Amino acid sequence: MGKRVQGAKSGKMKSNIRTMGSALGPRMMIDGREVDYFCGTSYYALHGDPRVIGAACEATCQYGMGPGTIMASPPLLEVEARAAEFFETEDAQYIISGYLGDMLLVQSLSGDYDVIFVDAASHYSVFDGIRSTGKRVIPFYHLDADDLARKLQDNLRPKEIPLVMSDGVFPVTGAIAPLREYVKVLASYDGALLCVDDSHAVGVIGEKGQGSLEYCGVQGKNRYLTGTLSKAFGGLGGIIPGDRDLMDKITRNVRIPVGASPPSTAAAAASAMGLKILSEHPEMRMQLWSNVAYMRTGLRELGIDLPDSPIPIVAVTALSGVDLKRVQQDLEKEGVLVAYVPPHGYSDAPNMESLRIAVFSTHTQEQIDRLLKSLGKLV
Ligand SMILES: Cc1ncc(COP(=O)(O)O)c(C=O)c1O
Repeated sequence: MGKRVQGAKSGKMKSNIRTMGSALGPRMMIDGREVDYFCGTSYYALHGDPRVIGAACEATCQYGMGPGTIMASPPLLEVEARAAEFFETEDAQYIISGYLGDMLLVQSLSGDYDVIFVDAASHYSVFDGIRSTGKRVIPFYHLDADDLARKLQDNLRPKEIPLVMSDGVFPVTGAIAPLREYVKVLASYDGALLCVDDSHAVGVIGEKGQGSLEYCGVQGKNRYLTGTLSKAFGGLGGIIPGDRDLMDKITRNVRIPVGASPPSTAAAAASAMGLKILSEHPEMRMQLWSNVAYMRTGLRELGIDLPDSPIPIVAVTALSGVDLKRVQQDLEKEGVLVAYVPPHGYSDAPNMESLRIAVFSTHTQEQIDRLLKSLGKLV
């Protein structure tokens, strides 16, 4: 039965960690009983998909857990080839985690900019990454292009080049960074760079699923993303797509690919399969967006104020007179699992409590209706 661990240190989401009893899915075994699962980041539930699991098992049997020195297992090479195809770039770099991807990207570009301007609510990995460069770091207000403009004006000396960094999609609120506005602001700064941590956007938004830069129509020169294969794609590890020039800069300026072990063979094979499945089945994205729209409409009908958005993260924040912690617990008693996020409980969590509801492409309408019905009784 489920062991419960109070899993929080300062700054981390205080959540009860529960124990899985089956592969991840929209309906799964947790703490010994079957529940409707509306948490996490596996937006297509590919982590529990038999094709993904099969690929991981098969590759592990053939190549073992991981590669030795001066060689790469075919699944590792396949991830980079498939990622380059998915993102329509010349190449891609695959590393052990998305968390390190931010560090890798800003270090690789370190000769191209002088000062980093960062959305103040960006993910921990963004801040850890940019601090590692030793460059000046200037935070700007969350999602605020006007404040970015002010901070650029006040802090850049003549000829200094800025790099602007933000989550493309924020993990708790699901907010999409206003990248088009950032690009307008940056237009008067020669050589300015824009980098996004697109962990929650890749595979999810944009017509081809290429993430927030595609969604906002701002792909191009000096625009970079780091993504993860640990969320939408059902695998594990960080992915940085780009041209040969970026790959050369990674080789010259970054030690992570040589100093850290690559992802395991199982992680690579699962990630390659996830990339293949999402490339070959764009209708999965349509299904996800349709489920997201259905969920958002249903929540609005309960009187909850929500923006229109294709993002499968729905944040229900403070409702007057409603104790959201109790709502989360009561939903769980009814077999519906959503995440409770305390005020400031994660990198972008607001200063008030919230429920984070994750929508999967594989949730059925009946499941979403069940959640809405249970929630309707509680709010
Ligand atoms: C915005 C963001 N960036 C990076 C990461 C880390 O990705 P990974 O789990 O692949 O290390 C996360 C993980 O939740 C995230 O939400």
